[in-house]
Formats: sequence, C-alpha cells, structure tokens
Amino acid sequence: MAAALELRRALLSDLSKSAAAAAKIQEEEEPKLKLKHGEGESPTVAATNGIARPQYNNVAYWEDRYAKSSPGEVYEWVLGYDNLSLREKIDDFINSSFSQLTALNVLHPGCGDSTLGVALSASKSVRREVRVVNTDASATAIAKMSDRHPEAEWVVMDSLVCPPHDHCLAYDVVLDKCLLDAFTCGGTEFDKRKMVHGYLEHCANALKAGGRMLVISFGQPETRRRYFEKQTFANIQNDPWPWKDTLTMSKVRGIGQDQRSKEAFLYVLEKK
Ligand SMILES: C[S@@+](CC[C@H](N)C(=O)[O-])C[C@H]1O[C@@H](n2cnc3c(N)ncnc32)[C@H](O)[C@@H]1O
Repeated sequence: MAAALELRRALLSDLSKSAAAAAKIQEEEEPKLKLKHGEGESPTVAATNGIARPQYNNVAYWEDRYAKSSPGEVYEWVLGYDNLSLREKIDDFINSSFSQLTALNVLHPGCGDSTLGVALSASKSVRREVRVVNTDASATAIAKMSDRHPEAEWVVMDSLVCPPHDHCLAYDVVLDKCLLDAFTCGGTEFDKRKMVHGYLEHCANALKAGGRMLVISFGQPETRRRYFEKQTFANIQNDPWPWKDTLTMSKVRGIGQDQRSKEAFLYVLEKK
C-alpha cells in the first residue's frame, strides 16, 4: 500500500514536471509566433481554457507557420551550431562516431528552417566528410530550404512512419534538434508516448546496426529520460526494443537567436 502511494506520488510529480516543461517551451515561443504570424486566428492553434496554444505535434500547424513566414526567415530552436558549446558537443559526437569511416551519413529529421545540417556538412571542425540528409514533414519548409541551400539534400518525410525503403538502414547517425520535443508537446501522456515511440522506431529503422542518435532538446532529464527507456512503452511496443542501455546525458547553455539565455539538454542513444 505504501509502495503504491509512493509510486502514485512519483508519477504525479513526473507528470506535473512534464506539463511545466511543455508550458515552458510554449510560453517561450508563443509571443514571438503571435507577433510574427498572427497565429491567434489560425485553425491549427488549439484553445484550452480560453488560451490559444500552438500544436507543435501537428504537421498542419507547421505548414501554416512556414507558409506565413517571409522567404529569408530562419528560426533556430533552442541553440544553433553557431553556439560554441553546442558545436563542441556535436563535433565530439560526430568525431567519436564510427571513427574508422572516412564519410559519415547523417539523417537530420524535423530540420525545419534550421541551418544545422548545412553548417555541419561545411564545418572545418569535423574530421571527415559528413553527408547530411535534411528531412521534414512540411513540404513548404523543405521547398524553402532547398531554394536557399541547393547544395544540401532536402527530403519531405514524415518521421512518425517507417522511412522510405532507400532510407532504411542507411545512416550512421541521426541528429535531432527539437523534433522529439515537438512530439512531447500537447495531448495526453499516452499520446506523447505513442508519438515518441513511432518516432524512435522511424530513427531505429533509418540507422545501421550500432548507429547513434543525438537528441538536442529543451527538456531536462526529469521530463525526457523516460522517453528513452523501454519500460515506458510496455503497453505500446510489441517488437524488441532496438536501443542499447547506454543512454548518456549532458547539457550546454547559451544565448538563443532571440537573445534569451537557453539550456540545451543532450541525449545519446545507440542502436543494438
Ligand atoms: C520545433 S521545430 C524544430 C526545427 C529545427 N530542427 C530547429 O531545431 O530549429 C520542429 C520541426 O519538426 C517538423 N515536424 C513536425 N512533425 C513532424 C513529423 N511527423 N515528421 C517530420 N517532421 C515533423 C516541423 O515541421 C518543424 O520543422
């Protein structure tokens, strides 16, 4: 009985932290969104308790947002590759992954209008060729970015389903910046788990055996760690869990594009 109460208390505290984190990311972005795109009137913005909130886990929301943004507009979530501390972490991750390979194939899902993939392929601080495939479910974001950076590879792809055949078992590394975060915003805890599960399956299918995934996130370990653990998906997952028990976590701090101080939390998973 005492153990059950303890478990209930832990679960409630975990859920309220998760809600607080989701509110934080929404609060942080929402004023900017409304100012830029007048999203209070958008049909893709859900109203709860009279407060309009962007639906970050809904592709229609993103299509709307990218369609309304001006042609040269870029919004780099959390921190960009121009932040030295984050760049160092990403470079270490890239340089330490499959060091025997002369070229590394990287999948960058949910790229939006971030230049992370473009900057990484051109970076002098990584020790070998890095071929990045930037993907997003928003056809508008991909069209804009391929106009802006025709030298890079851009593919419209839904990261909640199995990747197309030619992208399966094709990558050494997956680089996520704030896409997993988007799937943990809005809906019930069960909705979030279903989305994250579908997304992690997508990434595991895209990776070669032993491939690695770096998740760069707004979310601190109290709100994110469970999404990288097999038992979280016990009533969703029938297939074998594709990840090793080697989760590593770290964080960096810096000034974001909006000149506000941000913390980015980094999680590294390894495919079995
Ligand atoms: C929070 S933004 C992050 C953008 C970029 N990675 C960054 O860090 O600046 C989330 C991105 O994920 C994309 N997205 C949302 N749902 C998706 C899905 N099911 N499959 C692929 N991309 C998706 C959105 O279009 C959006 O560009």
